[in-house]
Amino acid sequence: MKAPREWHKSFFDNSFYNPASPAAVEQAPREARFILKQLRLKKGAALLDLCCGPGRHAVEFAKKGLAVTGYDFSAQYLAEARRRAKKKKVPLRLVRGDMRRLKFKENFDAAVNLFTSFGYFRKFSDDIKTLKGVARALRPGGLFLIDVVHGEFVRANFRRRDWTELEDYFHLEEASAGPDGTVNTWTRVPKNGGRPLTRTFFTRLYNRARLSAALKKAGLEPLKFFGSFSGAALSPKAVRLICLARKG
Ligand SMILES: C[S@@+](CC[C@H](N)C(=O)[O-])C[C@H]1O[C@@H](n2cnc3c(N)ncnc32)[C@H](O)[C@@H]1O
Repeated sequence: MKAPREWHKSFFDNSFYNPASPAAVEQAPREARFILKQLRLKKGAALLDLCCGPGRHAVEFAKKGLAVTGYDFSAQYLAEARRRAKKKKVPLRLVRGDMRRLKFKENFDAAVNLFTSFGYFRKFSDDIKTLKGVARALRPGGLFLIDVVHGEFVRANFRRRDWTELEDYFHLEEASAGPDGTVNTWTRVPKNGGRPLTRTFFTRLYNRARLSAALKKAGLEPLKFFGSFSGAALSPKAVRLICLARKG
């Protein structure tokens, strides 16, 4: 199966998927603490959360006194981020747009892109376009932390079919792997007999070498790599590929 070219437009929709599951929301403060330790920002510094989704990390950053801008394509998730910030009584600037078309110019001291919000496009040049936009958005010396699923782990633990039982529905997965990345089809089968929903998406797989090359091409110099938000070293067994990079 092939993923639609602009699959993100219908995938990131509350009727199908929301990245802010209760478990993911619970993890966000711990992840945010690790990220802020790496970024070493002063109070009031400007931080871009690129592909912030429902804002689970963005509100944590704002709680620490940073001037946070959350940027995302999904109007539904941005509305949720706005509600989350209001509930936590923190200011949060939210901008809707496509990650390939960032218009910022040296507005930020640091930027983050979290939870595999990268590698979605069929053209590799679109990933580079995104990273160049991040580099442009950063002030000279600004830091960028990116967290994606570790391609080496995905390939070594590849499963063509899988399923999970959740509270209200069964989650079915089918996947195929090519040289560039994986194509996954997710199907939600409601337990109440409702209509199953299916979406297919593409993820370009990155390992350390490939991510380093992409960052460098965009003018971002990789400084450190980690395999988890507890700071573990990157290894073939690591599920996450986290990189801290600096604008040259
Ligand atoms: C896996 S979710 C992660 C969200 C958030 N970072 C988190 O950790 O909860 C990926 C996010 O990327 C956003 N996204 C997907 N394609 C995009 C695009 N072309 N431009 C901007 N945002 C996009 C989605 O709307 C979604 O919020």
